Amino acid sequence: MALLGFVQIPLTKVKSVRESLREKGLLKNFLKEHPYKMIQNQKIACHPLRNYLDMAYVGNITIGTPPQQFSVVFDTGSADLWVPSVYCKSKACVTHRSFKPARSSTFRLPGKNFELEYGSGKISGFLGYDTVRIGRLRTMNQVFGLSQLETGEAFEHGVFDGLLGLGFPSLALKGTTPIFDNLKKQGQISEPVFAFYLSTKEEGSAVIFGGVKKCCYKGELKWVPLTKPHYWQIALDRITWRGHIIGCLRGCQAIVDTGTTYLLGPYAEVDKIHSLMNAVPLQEEYLVQCNARDTYPDIVFTINNVDYPVPARTYIRKVRGQPWGCRSGYRGWAASQTWILGDVFLKVYFTVFDRGQNRIGLARAA
Ligand SMILES: *[C@@H]1O[C@H](CO)[C@@H](O)[C@H](O)[C@H]1NC(C)=O
Repeated sequence: MALLGFVQIPLTKVKSVRESLREKGLLKNFLKEHPYKMIQNQKIACHPLRNYLDMAYVGNITIGTPPQQFSVVFDTGSADLWVPSVYCKSKACVTHRSFKPARSSTFRLPGKNFELEYGSGKISGFLGYDTVRIGRLRTMNQVFGLSQLETGEAFEHGVFDGLLGLGFPSLALKGTTPIFDNLKKQGQISEPVFAFYLSTKEEGSAVIFGGVKKCCYKGELKWVPLTKPHYWQIALDRITWRGHIIGCLRGCQAIVDTGTTYLLGPYAEVDKIHSLMNAVPLQEEYLVQCNARDTYPDIVFTINNVDYPVPARTYIRKVRGQPWGCRSGYRGWAASQTWILGDVFLKVYFTVFDRGQNRIGLARAA
């Protein structure tokens, strides 16, 4: 199966060690000044997501009047919304639902083209404005992309039609306002916050807009300031296995990305992890004995001096429909030192994305 990686590329230049240490020195003060408060009576919307074969989390939205429904990946690694258009003849479009502008009374055409490149494919087409609904949340005049050309197997075989980006405006197509910013501007939510609860089961996952619900996590949320509000990017202290540092030796950067299936790291570090796991390469994947799920130690990600263990049962994946082996949840990517904390990590930790204070909250998922 294809690797889903919906972080937008190219990545920004990775920070120097000194820069990230300096940022870490600032963390203590930051957290004293920004204690977390539960807010009463806020407009919170909980929107269901489906875990599609442990590869992606998808949810329904509608565009237009009357509403046309689409299934999209809610992706914190990009900032644009797009769906296939009825004018697209690519294989990926033919097998998915497509938007028909002529059938929407609220559609407007600004006459601009767009092009987007992701870790796993390329999209191009034109922009439009229309009413977009996520459950009971509604944004009017929301810009979105209508694809005319889609390349990449991920788009062809996925159950999702398009992508809904929840990254920062600076990451979005030039001159466009991402949907989350419009939800806030148009008074649909009270706090500029959203959160993800990613279940290991097919049903029960959710993206929560406008606040945080106690439903989905255990213990306290621990806050981590963003190192750069562009991606949802934070500083990672180190990665350890049985107390030995195996990755992110002098501190590094990590992007929290709901649109990436795996834990992605620099090739050299992921190779080291795979050799500790006795993983065997097979095409794009790494096979691991399934009984290792019961015997291997946690791999511990230390963020802001707090340990976030990822158990072997999570980082060694049992793949539905492929009973003859288990797969590593790690993948090498790029030569840069940046890690991507994808769904393998986010299934273990409920995650709050706080646009108001440029920080991320993490707690054990319930
Ligand atoms: C999306 O809508 C379809 C009906 O069109 C429904 O069967 C499905 O459960 C919905 N998905 C989610 C995640 O709510």
